[in-house]
Amino acid sequence: MPKALCPGSFDPPTNGHIDVIERSARHFEGVVVAVIANPSKQPLFSLEERTEMLKEALHHLDNIEIASFDGLLVDFAKERALGVVVKGLRAVSDFEYELQMAQMNDELSPGLDTMFLTAKPEWAFLSSSLVKEVAKFGGAVANMVPAGVAGALAERFGTAAGP
Ligand code: PNS
Repeated sequence: MPKALCPGSFDPPTNGHIDVIERSARHFEGVVVAVIANPSKQPLFSLEERTEMLKEALHHLDNIEIASFDGLLVDFAKERALGVVVKGLRAVSDFEYELQMAQMNDELSPGLDTMFLTAKPEWAFLSSSLVKEVAKFGGAVANMVPAGVAGALAERFGTAAGP
């Protein structure tokens, strides 16, 4: 069974990301979680912080590796001999962009397949951007992100981390 590649900005990781990674870890021999070092938008958290949050949230799984990459995902996949990208799909609105990325990656690296896991309904409304916006104004995000992430958001924005 191959390993899955779960890439993302993870700025910060949400429960939706963690769910997709956990489910991938059940279906594949292992999962390489690839954190993009320099996402197109200026990240709130550094690469080291995002990596640490993922490590903490996934420490209960023994077949996960957290790595980072810059440049094209296809180059990282080739370097690591990974042939399957796994992404989460929340809604039809995700589909168009994800389909485009999957097809571009297949064009750039024929045979690099993308598989989609449908988001659990309880996490379908979640995005890192919305979580940051809510946390910034002191809204409760403790049920939407791993505990360490809620703490880090509260610290960054100078708000309380409570539910
Ligand atoms: O969490 P995100 O922001 O949805 O992750 C997007 C990510 C990092 C997976 C995507 O932007 C990506 O693969 N970037 C690397 C650059 C690249 O390969 N671009 C062409 C993909 S079509």
